[in-house]
Amino acid sequence: MLEEKRNKVAETVQYLKSRMTIHPEVAIVLGSGLGGLTKDIQILDEIPYADIPNFPVSTVPGHKGTLIFGKLNNVEVVVLNGRFHYYEGYPMDVVTYPQQVFAGLGIKKLVLSNAAGGMNPTFKVGDIMIIRDHINFFGTNPLIGPNDDTLGPRFPNMSEVYSHRLIRLAHEKAKANNIYVQEGVYMGVTGPCFETPAEYRAYYILGADAVGMSTVPEAIIAHYRGMEIFAFSVITDLGVVGQVMEATHEEVLAAASTAEPNMVKLIKEMLPEM
Ligand code: HPA
Repeated sequence: MLEEKRNKVAETVQYLKSRMTIHPEVAIVLGSGLGGLTKDIQILDEIPYADIPNFPVSTVPGHKGTLIFGKLNNVEVVVLNGRFHYYEGYPMDVVTYPQQVFAGLGIKKLVLSNAAGGMNPTFKVGDIMIIRDHINFFGTNPLIGPNDDTLGPRFPNMSEVYSHRLIRLAHEKAKANNIYVQEGVYMGVTGPCFETPAEYRAYYILGADAVGMSTVPEAIIAHYRGMEIFAFSVITDLGVVGQVMEATHEEVLAAASTAEPNMVKLIKEMLPEM
């Protein structure tokens, strides 16, 4: 079982290595409606997921489904343009397959982006929230099952999943470039339902500032595999008590695209110092 899984990842890694002309240390995962970052990338290779051995295929509108090797602000990057969500029906090891592949490719740093609903009353639609920490509310964990001790520890320490160094760097670059940023705790849930008003309220009381349907499983595996992680949410709708919006997927995509220039700027500014 473990060996089978390792061999699958190894086959994917081998295929990608055979195509790679660069050796990035940074991987970027683009969330819902945030694919516009790719316009700024000097693309060297763009591979549809369907062409990559053992790679899953994404099913959600707004998630494109290509792996990009290129340069962003002159820094070599690999970009996952379209992620895999638990609500699509994929098991957790498929949701986090790209992170296992990134580790195999020698990626050291991971940038995760997502669209999220904001519960913190100081948040506005279009805000960027730097993720300081997360609450895993999926009701499961991608590391459940026999542990492969060659990849990471049975009981990972989670005291600093989101690199304090990178959070500091993000604040520094945001300030220098007049980009308004928030910071907070991300609650990861399965979806696909958006939250009821009672759920938004409950999650806020539990200590979360924003809620979304991704990122947490990916951060767990990337952290387990030893990557330094930076993550942020674009707040696309509000679950603030008394002003819960009727979020739709289209509104989420539209709100994400208005925040896109700032998030692109922030990532570009951070990259050379990551
Ligand atoms: N809830 C969960 N996931 C989301 C939301 C939300 O309000 N907005 C964007 N992704």
